[in-house]
Amino acid sequence: MNLLLENKINQALSKIFKQLDLDDKFAFVKVSDRPDLSDFQCNGALALAKIAHKNPREIGTMIAAELQKCDFCESISVDGPGFINLKLKNEVIAQNADKMADDERLGCGVVENPHKVVLDYGGPNVAKTMHVGHLRSGVIGESVRRIEKFVGNDVIGDVHLGDWGTPMGQILSEIIHQDGNLDKVTSYDIAQITDFYKRANIRCKEDEAARENARIITAKLQDGNPEYRKAWEYLRSESVKAVKENYAQLDVNFDLWWGESDAHQACQEIVKIAREKGISEKDEGAEIIRLEESNKPKPPIIMVKSDGAFGYQLTDIATIKMRVDDLNAQEIVYFTDSRQTLHFEQIFEATQKLGIAPDVKLQHIVFGTVNGADGKPFKTRDGGVMDLKTLIDMSKEKVRQSLPKPNEVEGYGEAEIEKLTQQIAIAAIKFQDLKNTIASGYVFELDDFAKFEGKTGPYIQYAIARINSMLRKAQANGTKCGAIVLQAPEERTLALKLAQVHNVVMRAHTDKEPSIIAEYTHNLAQTFSTFYNACPVMNAETPQLVGSRLKLSKLTRDVLKLMLYLLGIEAPEVMLKAENKD
Ligand code: ARG
Repeated sequence: MNLLLENKINQALSKIFKQLDLDDKFAFVKVSDRPDLSDFQCNGALALAKIAHKNPREIGTMIAAELQKCDFCESISVDGPGFINLKLKNEVIAQNADKMADDERLGCGVVENPHKVVLDYGGPNVAKTMHVGHLRSGVIGESVRRIEKFVGNDVIGDVHLGDWGTPMGQILSEIIHQDGNLDKVTSYDIAQITDFYKRANIRCKEDEAARENARIITAKLQDGNPEYRKAWEYLRSESVKAVKENYAQLDVNFDLWWGESDAHQACQEIVKIAREKGISEKDEGAEIIRLEESNKPKPPIIMVKSDGAFGYQLTDIATIKMRVDDLNAQEIVYFTDSRQTLHFEQIFEATQKLGIAPDVKLQHIVFGTVNGADGKPFKTRDGGVMDLKTLIDMSKEKVRQSLPKPNEVEGYGEAEIEKLTQQIAIAAIKFQDLKNTIASGYVFELDDFAKFEGKTGPYIQYAIARINSMLRKAQANGTKCGAIVLQAPEERTLALKLAQVHNVVMRAHTDKEPSIIAEYTHNLAQTFSTFYNACPVMNAETPQLVGSRLKLSKLTRDVLKLMLYLLGIEAPEVMLKAENKD
């Protein structure tokens, strides 16, 4: 059910436009720019007048006259150059809110033609500690995954581990360099593994011979050398454990745990297809695909390096083939920062040349970086890269300070306080991220981001918990929700705001932009707060009004909860504060 109020008006407008022989492409309203004048406005008369060289006010007046005959408007006027302003009857908005409250999807519709979407929002590399750079892809990707599922698409989130490139040869060669062989590999824990990785990185930067050695080992590993393979398998599985812990902390989930290595066979197939199609060529021992240099110079794809190893680009192209052939993907979306823009342009173009994903929509969504107060990528105090775990721990510590200590509040022992700390800290981190449009970077704010007021995740969680508490009290004294009646302007504004939810979710889905939901959620929580301050609920004048306001409150709670869910954020039933323990 799509309970968007605009729908009702649009349908009537469409009929009127047809009757008047006007192009019904313009028969739609939007939420009014002047809420003091109207709830919705139709600007169709202006567009039509321009085309027909007529007076827009005249056309507007004609449409308005027909609209007068419908029974849902309280007032209709033609203003300015020809805007049609509509104000709905209170009963119409109230009935709509009643229907939303009865609907398990709260009035949100689904897409007309569901399709299969594969989302690629992981990409951590084996043996490398996850850092702040991995935050946004996971947080945004998880939200988009939930939004896409909610609107009815078939969604697969794939982590796409970086487990097959040169860094694998680098770490193996570093271990051999230090230990003489790979015998001790399986005794190393993740801290030791990441340490080897760091040292490998430094040494390969400085030493040509080390780089060469790492390159040879990578090629041999990919070729199936049993000794390397065994060590690599261990490193991979230990890393996956650590990566899973990180993502679990963030409540970022994947349906598939494929890695670049899983595309090895498909890589071979791609090389074959490229040869058959005659689009690859030999170049100084390597096998490459040249790309058009239409708008800007694009380097070629190096499919197979001169030593026989497969490159990063080839693994991504092969993965597209697998996602299309094995998963039936109709759309594949990648979330990374701007450093990979060229990479995706290259692989999308090669994919088209190879003809392996016809009619599949490939999209690379670029997000801005998480910055420190200096506007540069967020760093540790000593200027190092910020680990994801450190960042989460720091955030949790901040939240812990604003919560009571374990056992200070009845029913809240260590485990319960820890759970709440986790839920609030993750809400703070995710909301701070998702309230910004994907493309813009933002400053990671450690002072205000976890506050219960302001544009924060905890503010929304708190708003929900306050309504929960009211609903618990109502239940305890047997007060029930009743049909919604709208009297006070704050009630009306709240019900109108609630009616936007379908549109908000659909826009977030179409634009792949969770910030639209974050913005609305914050707005809705504020609108509720204004309503709550002006309209007593449990102490309203009449029992009818108590029932109505209770229902409006419950509906708001449910919409807020759904919005947080779509952002990947949990809503605790109860929130605690250190000072006044709720
Ligand atoms: N592992 C890559 C890196 O660390 C990111 C992977 C992004 N996703 C992809 N399908 N290429 O740079």
